[in-house]
Amino acid sequence: MPSSSNSNLPNVLLGVNIDHIATIRNARGVHYPDPLTAADIAEAHGADGITAHLREDRRHIKDADIRELRRRVKTRLNLEMANTEEMVALAEAIRPDMVTLVPERRQEVTTEGGLDVITHKEALGRSIQRLTAVNVPVSLFVDPDLAQIQACADLKVPYIELHTGQYCEAFEAGVGVQDALNALHTAALEAQRLGMKLNAGHGLHYGNVRPILELPGLIELNIGHSIIAEAVFIGLGPAVSKMKSILVEHSPQKTENSV
Ligand code: PXP
Repeated sequence: MPSSSNSNLPNVLLGVNIDHIATIRNARGVHYPDPLTAADIAEAHGADGITAHLREDRRHIKDADIRELRRRVKTRLNLEMANTEEMVALAEAIRPDMVTLVPERRQEVTTEGGLDVITHKEALGRSIQRLTAVNVPVSLFVDPDLAQIQACADLKVPYIELHTGQYCEAFEAGVGVQDALNALHTAALEAQRLGMKLNAGHGLHYGNVRPILELPGLIELNIGHSIIAEAVFIGLGPAVSKMKSILVEHSPQKTENSV
């Protein structure tokens, strides 16, 4: 049960990841559906931010999309990208409102695990310095692993994004859900203790998102695939509104007010 100290917290924010609009467009090599229009619709239906992942193989979002999104997004643009020279140079030029650094393996269907910040500390540190120098805050996408979270704090990043994939897999399997939630909860507390702000995401859908809203200090969720999948049946605007309503209704202070 949330404590009464939560009563002044704002809702958990919704970042909508529009990658899979571009996946559908690219399947035919045509110009539709347009990720920019998707961003407009998402913002009009309650998205607090737009997230796009520029992958090295450009399988969905393209460079031109990012440039246009930078011009068009009225809320906040979060650019997810690998820590490569090419990507960092692009982010320095485009200056999104946030960069979330993620690991990338070409063969993976989607981002499969968090960054190994411990192993790649020096290289990450150099990129964080470059991006911070052009006023782009950096978030590191990590598993709920206390040693990795300490490494993030050592790099003095303002944000981390906790990888919720393991929890989502446990939810689907119906095994180990509480353990996965406990790991996320402990990691969230550690991020808070070390002075970092907290986002989370990956694999979240309408059925599994509610317990995640209880993570201490959670600011924003980045959700993509499930919203775009729901949009196929009910339209993008209603699909975004439906997720936003869950976040508004079930963020801790709302849960508290409703009991
Ligand atoms: N957060 C990060 C760092 C991601 O890499 C992704 C997938 O691109 C997401 C959130 C969104 O994940 P999903 O599409 O499963 O909602």
